[in-house]
Amino acid sequence: MKTFPLLLAALAATPAMARDARVDFARDIAPVLKTTCATCHQVGVEAGRLSLVPKYALGFLVNVPSIEAPGVMRVAPGKPDRSYLVMKLEGTQVAHGGTGSRMPFGGPPLAPETIALVRAWIKQGARP
Ligand code: HEC
Repeated sequence: MKTFPLLLAALAATPAMARDARVDFARDIAPVLKTTCATCHQVGVEAGRLSLVPKYALGFLVNVPSIEAPGVMRVAPGKPDRSYLVMKLEGTQVAHGGTGSRMPFGGPPLAPETIALVRAWIKQGARP
């Protein structure tokens, strides 16, 4: 059992939510978007042309092309690394052909655990 401590270390390094539990959009993601993002992203006519209120967020995100990075989907189900939403949260959008600021605009970044949840939700298929 030489590999056992290594395995334990790997498990400990992964956030519990991202590891096993199914991430639920309405329970885990929508409330974050509502409190942190929907103040600016309301009905989808404002800068970024994106609504993040719970009722509309999915329809504006999943399989919808981003405005700022031609060819990059806002949320590409199963592919967090190819999703513009994640790039904007992590501030890597410019390296992927995008532009503008890291989100939330003018505020501190989301906690790493929260970004991990968003990544896990996308990885699991970005289901409603
Ligand atoms: C203070 C206002 C403000 C807040 C809060 C805010 N945004 Fe933005 N967002 C903008 C503006 C302005 C733009 C366009 C300019 C830019 O990208 O910097 C934008 C652009 C975006 C884009 C690019 C849309 C596209 O298709 O190109 C995404 C994705 C985005 N925001 C997601 C978020 C998320 C997720 C949050 C919350 C974590 C958030 N924003 C919070 C103002 C805001």
